[in-house]
Amino acid sequence: MKILVTGGLGFIGSHTVVELVQKNYEVVIIDDLSNSDEKVLDGIKQITAKDVQFEKIDLRDRGAIADFFDKHSDVQGVIHFAASKAVGESVEDPLIYYENNLSSLVYLLKELLAIGRTNFIFSSSCTVYGEADQVPITEEAEIKPALSPYGNTKQIGEEIIKDSCKAYPELNAISLRYFNPIGAHPSTLIGELPIGVPQNLIPFITQTAVGLRRELSVFGDDYPTEDGTCIRDYIYVVDLAKAHVKALERLINQKASTNYEVFNLGTGKGSSVMEVIQSFERISEQKLPYRIASRREGDVIKAFADTKKANQVLGWSSETPLDDALLTALRWEKKIRE
Ligand code: UD1
Repeated sequence: MKILVTGGLGFIGSHTVVELVQKNYEVVIIDDLSNSDEKVLDGIKQITAKDVQFEKIDLRDRGAIADFFDKHSDVQGVIHFAASKAVGESVEDPLIYYENNLSSLVYLLKELLAIGRTNFIFSSSCTVYGEADQVPITEEAEIKPALSPYGNTKQIGEEIIKDSCKAYPELNAISLRYFNPIGAHPSTLIGELPIGVPQNLIPFITQTAVGLRRELSVFGDDYPTEDGTCIRDYIYVVDLAKAHVKALERLINQKASTNYEVFNLGTGKGSSVMEVIQSFERISEQKLPYRIASRREGDVIKAFADTKKANQVLGWSSETPLDDALLTALRWEKKIRE
């Protein structure tokens, strides 16, 4: 069965492609290489020892998408990762974000409906909840005004899909709201490849550990949490990738209870920045240089998932403890700096 994975050379995309191929799906990747590297394809092929097709397409090009589906009219499902994801950049250049993340989504859905292929998984984010009134955060939590154009594209993306599912009953879609994906494949053949100075905590930590950065700045230690630092739900990327296969199979096997569903994907456990540092020091057996810095604008204080729905309905749960996930991230960092 042929599955299209857009953004399949990116961080979560590449790990998901591996899981799909290992479950004997035939995968075609679309990626524009704007924030990824063609070498990732070699990594995927090495891990799976199978062929994976790749087409370099910019999804803002509707004609190119139509041509793609002419060639691959037997695609049975789409997992749509392709999007820009840097929060700061989205504030500086919102139109790029709205164009990149939303026009591509609209074109893809239109072309899919045109060929009568309707199983669609959307890569969403816990960012849609903003600062939730309660943790753990359930899927019923209120969607708060987005804190950045990036976050807004995820909210609007979900609305586009929801409205489309209402209007076109043949469309079957699932939005997956990720908490904080981390780590790398145990083979160390694929992992996260941030461009420039990493904005996210774990790549910054691993780059500091290998001497690429002098020290980690902990953004604020005066938050109303036990140790004063912010709390997140760090989910191992391979566990996250497996959830995509589960979600896709739910659609393919027509098990969904409605034609639009939403699931949180996290571990259900919140960890503070200080706890992450401690965990990292434990697994790396080295001290991590850090200093306390001022708060980062737009940071939420506490976000971790209520995972009951994903556990019970999707039959999926996170398996990998934080220490183990951090160890894969460190091994990957060392490998790419060799
Ligand atoms: C960030 C984005 C979020 C996006 C997600 C994707 C912001 C405000 N939010 O989420 O919209 O969906 O990435 O992965 O950018 N931290 C430090 N020092 C650092 C880096 C981070 O102390 O150098 C802290 C942050 O303050 C936060 C935690 O580490 O408390 C996690 O940060 P990060 O990895 O950037 O993830 P999010 O803020 O959850």
